[in-house]
Amino acid sequence: MDAKKCDVDLTQAYRLLHPKHTVLLSCTDKKGTPNIITLAWCMPVSVKPPMLALSIRPTRHSYKMIEETKEFVINIPTMSIIKETLFCGRRSGKQHDKFKETGLTPLPAKIVKPPIIKECIAHLECKLHQKIPAGDHDILVGEIFAAYVNEGVFDKIYDLNKVKPIHHMGGDDFATLAPKVIRPQLES
Ligand SMILES: Cc1cc2nc3c(=O)[nH]c(=O)nc-3n(C[C@H](O)[C@H](O)[C@H](O)COP(=O)(O)O)c2cc1C
Repeated sequence: MDAKKCDVDLTQAYRLLHPKHTVLLSCTDKKGTPNIITLAWCMPVSVKPPMLALSIRPTRHSYKMIEETKEFVINIPTMSIIKETLFCGRRSGKQHDKFKETGLTPLPAKIVKPPIIKECIAHLECKLHQKIPAGDHDILVGEIFAAYVNEGVFDKIYDLNKVKPIHHMGGDDFATLAPKVIRPQLES
């Protein structure tokens, strides 16, 4: 039977695009104070040069830090740090030292000044390339200068038997992927 199509309030339309793979962005201000912001709106946009795009509200404390230093790291968390991931998305660096309060560990990055987050499984070090206004958020395009992953969990694709990625449904709701990869065979 054909399903009836139900209208969705336009302020909730973005949720039809969720779940979204969730990341932790680490950044610093010009004095070197570090911060973490949780982001669901992050996607690859170029292979050569390697680039990604983020959508960040200009009111975020992290936004100002990225504007100051023009550098950041995208860290990939897993379900083992789901509470810390929510914390970094519900508290602001204006009032909170998120590394201290979550217990997440900053480690030096290879190229950029902001630290990587040790407990995450992968890290993409980026420099700000472009900023594009888009409604109540800005699109920040970053060029990736280094990328690395924990040994044994990635061979061109993640091994879902070993890692459980965090996907944001909306609000405080998350999901993860079943450890099953499907590769459809096309006829020609
Ligand atoms: C799961 C999740 C995903 C989020 N995704 C985004 C996002 O893509 N862009 C954004 O601007 N804020 C996003 N937020 C909100 C920020 O993470 C939140 O406002 C945070 O407290 C900002 O921290 P800051 O003020 O220290 O920068 C998200 C929050 C959660 C919980």
